[in-house]
Amino acid sequence: MTRKLFIKTYGCQMNAYDSARMADVMAPHGYAIVDAPDGADMVVLNTCHIREKAAEKVYSELGRLRALKQEKAAQGERMIVAVAGCVAQAEGEEMLRRSDLVDIVVGPQVYHRLPELVARLGRDGKALDTEFPTDDKFDAMPETKAVEGPAAFLTVQEGCDKFCTFCVVPYTRGAEYSRPVSQIVAEARHLVDLGVREITLLGQNVNAFHGAGVDGEAWGLGQLIRHLARIGGLERLRYTTSHPRDMDDELIAAHRDEAKLMPYLHLPVQAGSDTVLEAMNRGHTADDYRRLVGRIRAARPDIALSSDFIVGFPGETDRDFEATLDLVREVGFAQSFSFKYSARPGTPAAAARKQVPDDVKADRLARLQALLDEQATAFAQDCLDRSIDVLLEKPGRYPGQLIGRSPYLQAVHVVAPDHAIGDIVSVRVSEVMPHSLRGELVSTARTPIAAVAH
Ligand code: 5AD
Ligand code: SF4
Repeated sequence: MTRKLFIKTYGCQMNAYDSARMADVMAPHGYAIVDAPDGADMVVLNTCHIREKAAEKVYSELGRLRALKQEKAAQGERMIVAVAGCVAQAEGEEMLRRSDLVDIVVGPQVYHRLPELVARLGRDGKALDTEFPTDDKFDAMPETKAVEGPAAFLTVQEGCDKFCTFCVVPYTRGAEYSRPVSQIVAEARHLVDLGVREITLLGQNVNAFHGAGVDGEAWGLGQLIRHLARIGGLERLRYTTSHPRDMDDELIAAHRDEAKLMPYLHLPVQAGSDTVLEAMNRGHTADDYRRLVGRIRAARPDIALSSDFIVGFPGETDRDFEATLDLVREVGFAQSFSFKYSARPGTPAAAARKQVPDDVKADRLARLQALLDEQATAFAQDCLDRSIDVLLEKPGRYPGQLIGRSPYLQAVHVVAPDHAIGDIVSVRVSEVMPHSLRGELVSTARTPIAAVAH
């Protein structure tokens, strides 16, 4: 009997990857993915803890499932509700206590045990697993059977040892861990065999990746990328999220040498004042970041940079904030994500005495975002009338239209036939829209795909 499984994903791409893997582990047990929770036999909320009031939002989402769970019960069936991800990790047993709707609480390190947890439930029991185990969850998972399109994620690294003073990740995702090279290569080849053309390597600190290479040498992310770039049929590589401290020479050189490595880099700086960077425990100064950007641009002049920013970190003065604006003006970002600092219980900065008032934070955020928007628009305008390579990924909003991505990760709308999904085509950009580009097909001639020889 097929059972219906609905997974709702919040937050980062790592969670998107984890949700796909949860679907993979449940598939052999008869669970097939559906796109709405109505009538589902199992609902998984794969949660994110990075934003404010994350736990409260999960409890209200759970409240919305109550009627559906009751309907199912009225038919004599059970809707199993599982909470996964970082909120599950942080809340643990509290979740089972606070909400009678929750049947399973499973942390990000143990979701390969979901089938066991379901089996443990029995008729009306509860199950919890928030361990940080030593066994490798990736070993325990079946191969992906199908992919959603030509662009896929592949987790190569997890966790974080950096302990930025504002961040919950080191507590919810645990210590830094890199997957073995052989496992990553096998997964990448498998994805390519399923039709994937672009792989984004994922990790909370992806460029902290390290491991023994196929040549027995110690490899970092740069060497891994060089190796993966040799897989025939794989056309594009990306990676995210990086820490400035881990951008080593090998990785920068890969940007210079590997045509398959796309010229887009998300490299969060968070702030432009050395005092704030120090209080955040970022481990680098603003000038270190400027120099690093200089080295990366020397290797790959057209690289598009993106960053995360936090305004109103405890103790941030007007002058500190001006230093952030200065850094933004000097570096220039193609895309950015900016947030007001908000205290996360249990993190060192939450206990700091000099919290910044909310109206000051709001004002700084508005000023920063105006500058960042200006830069993002200028970057997009620069693409106007140029031909860019686009990997066509999926149908667009209107019939006959497809959506793809440029090398710089911009969404591009173009009129093209459905069978062109998976092709890399040349598109002349004719219009810049707020969050995407529109263009016309210049050539359907795709980049030749080398024979899939591993
Ligand atoms: N307050 C505001 N922003 C935060 N981020 C992480 N923790 C906090 C916090 N406590 C932001 C950082 C990080 C991004 C994923 O979320 O900018 O890079
Ligand atoms: Fe959080 Fe800092 Fe680690 Fe990034 S590097 S996950 S911001 S602690």
